[in-house]
Amino acid sequence: MLNHIKTLQKIGQTFKKDKTDFLELTEAINDFKRITQELSTININEESNKKDVYLNNGKALGTTWAAMCIDDILRTKKFIKGIFKAIDSLKAKQNKPIHILYAGTGPYATLLLPILATYSQQEIKVTLVEINKESFNSMKQIISLLGLNKHVISYENEDATTLKISTQTPIDIIVSETLQCGLVKEQQVPITINLLNQVGKNTILIPEMLALDVCLMNYNAFKNRTSETKESDYCLVLDRLIEINNKSNEVFNLDLNDSSTQILAEKIITIDPENTTLYETLFLVTRITVFGDEKILINESGLTVPIFLDEFSNLKEEKTFKISYKVDAEPGYIIN
Ligand SMILES: C[S@@+](CC[C@H](N)C(=O)[O-])C[C@H]1O[C@@H](n2cnc3c(N)ncnc32)[C@H](O)[C@@H]1O
Repeated sequence: MLNHIKTLQKIGQTFKKDKTDFLELTEAINDFKRITQELSTININEESNKKDVYLNNGKALGTTWAAMCIDDILRTKKFIKGIFKAIDSLKAKQNKPIHILYAGTGPYATLLLPILATYSQQEIKVTLVEINKESFNSMKQIISLLGLNKHVISYENEDATTLKISTQTPIDIIVSETLQCGLVKEQQVPITINLLNQVGKNTILIPEMLALDVCLMNYNAFKNRTSETKESDYCLVLDRLIEINNKSNEVFNLDLNDSSTQILAEKIITIDPENTTLYETLFLVTRITVFGDEKILINESGLTVPIFLDEFSNLKEEKTFKISYKVDAEPGYIIN
């Protein structure tokens, strides 16, 4: 297993780099997948592993789909890089183990394996939460086979939207990636609010900031953009529908035991016809700041693909509509 640990450390070093070399990243992801597939007994082609878990406030992905998240290359790189940065920022301030709660580990604890391989059990402690039994068992087995069990304070095969944190060790960092673009269907928002309710105010949340922006775009300019193109050349932000950060439990009044529809945010949007001559298409854009300056930009990942809402050709009069963000069995936005 020592070889696997060394490879995971190398993968971590590759993800930590500032530059994005897709060849190098693809090789790192392939090495990462080879290790997880070798150590896990789950068969991702089996139909039973493709079943999602449906809950009162959204769904949890089946094992197969959760395993495949690793292939979203920039997502995986930027989350892991962001976690390294968050750890560095705490290490500069405190000289005690850093306790990370990871909610929704999937079958491989993808976002933490390179971290656990890099730091000692004296430096990093973890609480690992996963609702899906197959994913949970696989994750536990991988951690154990890699000899990383001593990093683990607690394994919880629980629903993170209702989990009562029982450990006495304060949590320094919460990590969860239980989202899709538009914050639809999955449980990122209720999970975040439940966990924030139980930790200190200075706990680092990863992703640090998530938001949904209602934007007008010039679709051609967006499609033809280069790395030099400024966002304002193709995108006009009209309003922010919702922002999730480590104060969200104070801002949103979400009853985690209520299964009826709860509206967390509502905005009235007005489209000025003058703007639609240059920016003709209406999109919902998902913003993700993993930590500090580590951001996943528009379309860099499946999580930040802009969601088409409407297109305006020859709009003569102002157009107004209401957009809301709700949490219920199928979380997401609604447009009236
Ligand atoms: C999008 S996958 C991400 C997997 C892995 N963390 C990664 O980043 O590659 C989300 C994982 O969170 C789990 N999950 C979703 N909702 C959950 C909940 N309420 N409580 C615990 N786990 C949950 C799913 O079962 C799934 O394994």
